[in-house]
Amino acid sequence: MTWIHLAYMLASVLFIFGIKRLATVRTARQGNMLAMAAMLIAVIASLSELAILYPQHFDPRLILTGVVIGSAIGVWAGVTVEAKAMPEMVALLNGLGGAASLLVALSYFYEKMIETAHAKTAAAVLLPEGAVSVILSVLIGGVTVTGSVVAFGKLQGAKWMPDKPILLPFRHAISGGVVASTLLFSYLISFQVTSRWGLLFLLLLVTLLCLALGVLLVIPIGGADMPVVISLLNSYSGLAASMTGFVIGNNLLIISGSLVGASGIILTMIMCKAMNRSLLNVLVGGFGMEEASTGGAKKQEYTNVKSTDAEELAQMLDAVERVVIVPGYGMAVAQAQHAVREMADILKKRGVSVKYAIHPVAGRMPGHMNVLLAEADVPYDELFEMDDINNEFSNTDISIIIGANDVVNPEALDKKDSPIYGMPILHVHESRVVVIIKRSLSPGYAGIPNPLFEADNALMFFADARKGIEDTVRELKSNA
Ligand code: TAP
Repeated sequence: MTWIHLAYMLASVLFIFGIKRLATVRTARQGNMLAMAAMLIAVIASLSELAILYPQHFDPRLILTGVVIGSAIGVWAGVTVEAKAMPEMVALLNGLGGAASLLVALSYFYEKMIETAHAKTAAAVLLPEGAVSVILSVLIGGVTVTGSVVAFGKLQGAKWMPDKPILLPFRHAISGGVVASTLLFSYLISFQVTSRWGLLFLLLLVTLLCLALGVLLVIPIGGADMPVVISLLNSYSGLAASMTGFVIGNNLLIISGSLVGASGIILTMIMCKAMNRSLLNVLVGGFGMEEASTGGAKKQEYTNVKSTDAEELAQMLDAVERVVIVPGYGMAVAQAQHAVREMADILKKRGVSVKYAIHPVAGRMPGHMNVLLAEADVPYDELFEMDDINNEFSNTDISIIIGANDVVNPEALDKKDSPIYGMPILHVHESRVVVIIKRSLSPGYAGIPNPLFEADNALMFFADARKGIEDTVRELKSNA
């Protein structure tokens, strides 16, 4: 058993270094490899422990079948998933993590119940701390499973379910009632039940209530807030795994679960801070509904909009030294990243300095723009985070905004009653000229008007982002 404990310790250390190296783009691949090695060691050590301690439960054929099927699905999903579908993939993986914790806790409890024939309460079956761990595993695991499935559904657009917030009447009272009943039944299971069938019945009832709670908590949240929800569910799946570690006495599960739990909540808070919204505001749901119901940004709100086209943009680009490209959600929708890189290559060949300004919540998932630009082989050192580039806009000849809206909305700086007031933005309005490529004057995710569209130095280029950039590239080439 000593080598098994050493293997668990090695895996824990590798997980910690792996997650540390995931923190920067340059070392992320290496971090992933370390975490993969840690997981392989953990699986081998766990199976060896099972074979030594419970040879009667160790069926190599069953395990091999699971490994082959699981690996095949994992490789297929990893190879075929598109970068833009990564949040859906993470949602599903979180759900599986939650389901695993739920099932392990339930089956462990059932096994112990059979072993302790006379015990009637969960505390008598597993001691009070064991009972609390089982119930927390069931609670967090259950919410994670169904919450993740709903998050996955909402990210499919309207294909599976409406991605708009679904606001049930009395939703807070319903959710509150489910939470209160879950806590009451959990207490009864732990200390008060007097029959073993009653114990099993209540445990299954709590499981069903937690599954329902996952749905109730996620349906009122809009599709675009799903990355925050998924990050939070990721944190929950880590906590559930950690609790399961306490249930089955596995230190590695406790450590790796805590790492996932902590990193998930940190990422959640980073996203909330970048949107200047509290976690509660995201979780209560319904964001953007008020603006949508009162009309949001209407075309007639703009009085001084000037427009441009590919020919004029190419001409302007003939006489510039410094260009900043600001990608947003529209670049992802249009899949314009390859055309953008081609345009940047032409400009760089002419000696123009080209930088990309990346807002932390541009797009719809953390690192969305970085992933797309990396896919188009844009060099990492041309990507600048908001705080590093904001004071460069005043020296920029042209900022080209590609399908971004909220992240460049100056309302966030000075309009106190704006829903995005206080959200840090990219200061593109300080550039000499701002060209905004989008299809219309429609609002972005926050559903509010953007005064940048009618600023004196702004020109709207109404087009699909990819088509607009491709046309500009053609014009640039014909001017050469
Ligand atoms: P948004 O403010 O959502 O604006 C995107 C713009 O893209 C829209 O105004 C749309 O205008 C345009 N667009 C859509 N399809 C296009 C296409 N094919 N070609 C050209 N333009 C197109 O995007 P953003 O500036 O990236 O801001 C992100 C928003 O999402 C923020 O409000 C943020 O808080 C929120 N959010 C982000 C995250 C993460 S982690 N990134 C998580 C939750 C919420 P048209 O329809 O006129 O073309």
